[in-house]
Amino acid sequence: MRAVQNNPDAGRLIHGLRDTGYDFQTAAADIIDNSIAANATQISVELSITREGRKFVFFGDNGDGMDPDQLKSAMRYGAPVRANLSSLGKFGLGLKTASSSVCKRFSVISRKSSNEQLMKLTWDLDHVADVQEWEMLEEDISDEEREEFAKHCGGSGTLIIWSNCDRMLQKEYEAGSTNEQRAVQRLKEKLKEHIALTYYRFLDEADDRAENVKIIVNGEKVIHWNPFYPAKSEQMLSQNQQTLDLELEDGTESVIKMKAWILPHSKDMGKDENKKFAKIANHRQGFYIHRENRVIQSGGWLQVFGDVEPHTSLLRIEFDFEHTADEAFKIDVKKSRILFDPALEAAFKQILQPFYREANRRSRGRSSQSNANSTINHKSSNTNISNTQNTAKPEVESASSETNTVTLRNNHGGGITLKQTVQDNASNDLLYVEAVDTITSGNLWEPAMRKTEQSDGHKAAVLINKFHEFYKKIYQRSKNDRYAIEGLDLLLWSLAVAEDNSTNEEISATFEDFREEVSSNLKRLLRDFPELSDDELESDDNIA
Ligand SMILES: Nc1ncnc2c1ncn2[C@@H]1O[C@H](COP(=O)(O)OP(=O)(O)OP(=O)(O)O)[C@@H](O)[C@H]1O
Ligand SMILES: [Mg+2]
Repeated sequence: MRAVQNNPDAGRLIHGLRDTGYDFQTAAADIIDNSIAANATQISVELSITREGRKFVFFGDNGDGMDPDQLKSAMRYGAPVRANLSSLGKFGLGLKTASSSVCKRFSVISRKSSNEQLMKLTWDLDHVADVQEWEMLEEDISDEEREEFAKHCGGSGTLIIWSNCDRMLQKEYEAGSTNEQRAVQRLKEKLKEHIALTYYRFLDEADDRAENVKIIVNGEKVIHWNPFYPAKSEQMLSQNQQTLDLELEDGTESVIKMKAWILPHSKDMGKDENKKFAKIANHRQGFYIHRENRVIQSGGWLQVFGDVEPHTSLLRIEFDFEHTADEAFKIDVKKSRILFDPALEAAFKQILQPFYREANRRSRGRSSQSNANSTINHKSSNTNISNTQNTAKPEVESASSETNTVTLRNNHGGGITLKQTVQDNASNDLLYVEAVDTITSGNLWEPAMRKTEQSDGHKAAVLINKFHEFYKKIYQRSKNDRYAIEGLDLLLWSLAVAEDNSTNEEISATFEDFREEVSSNLKRLLRDFPELSDDELESDDNIA
């Protein structure tokens, strides 16, 4: 056997490594991780854009700094393994791959103490491609750069400069335009939010689980945001449920810590309190994964439960693991996502199920109250449907509310038996269309067969899910517009009735899939629509 050397193409590889899936937030956090690992107590970040639209980012810290040899190995793709394995660094790549995901040229300027010379090294991606060598640049340090160093680091520490930031913004703008300037401002705000959550244990001086760090973004100190709002939330797991010994492949053990927090209902908080501390929202429920005290993944159920859904938005799980369990969780290079294996999924599901139900119960308890405050009137659509005799609909041959089964005659013929909600006690003016809080599938609507004490037999009806995004965000907003509400009601009733009229035992599952797909697409499409504020919900000028 002979070994055959086959070195990578420097230009293609260094450019290819730009696309490892970072976004601006995670890239910036990788740089901040390094500063924390270097024992910085203060980190200063600045996003800047010149009038001509040239974009820069500076990251300065007052940490240990590097001597010239250390700086050179730090800049190497695949830097030496760190002495302290519990520090946030792991792969020896973060500094380079995070930087180049945003910019085409990045420099590091560093020194270990104020009486040493500053030293600077630069990777320029175009230069590497030009010379086809892994060749860095060692340039003189300009006066401006010295000023930036003093401003962001003080006497000693490390300054990272991202210049030529061609991938800082997701959209292309006219260079230097007001729109571009505004986009940079927005990005800065997003970064502050990301830092406030990712490093909340480091930023919060009262939290002694992690060392204290002050982080400044464009001159403003970032205030931590603890997503569990411990001052007001209830922690549900008993002491012995809070730790879990994970057996690793090499036979050693690693400890996982977990807490399950149920947050106060938004109705039990002031508006500002919710906005500032609890920030209750659908996408914020679920797991908050901490690796070595830093939040690497936030929200979502990681396959333990299904998709996020409004009823369980009060439940947040504080989940902690140490670097020793990295393999077990299949951590990625950006350390920004983990995966649970099926056995862990099942174990967590079992532990958390009761609290998942409890959060659900609490949310419903309060929201039925809040919905009562802002009743949407479905009566006129009911009157309309009742008065319009010539709509196409199935004939009900029999229906049982005990077994929730109906037998219909529809477009396919008679004797078609289906599983479906059957109700015998609907109220008179809401027989055909009613918004309910009992739909557990998460779908927006469901066909049902309903009768009242007065009606002659069961009628084809629709139940609308009060907890679906569409109801909370679109119906609620339209509540003062009679025609909008009636129009939406008639549309959903027509869909439900057409389903009952066109289905049979074989194809009913297809219709269910269809409903589910429409409902979940709407949920996704409405994700960025804000939920109604308390004020909007309480404005009680309902239509009669
Ligand atoms: N701000 C800093 N201050 C001091 N040393 C630093 C700083 N940033 C990086 N370094 C040094 O550079 C090395 C390489 O950093 P890099 O982020 O590329 O890899 P890493 O942090 O070891 O691992 P990971 O790929 O997980 O980030 C670090 O191990 C550290 O020694
Ligand atoms: Mg790193």
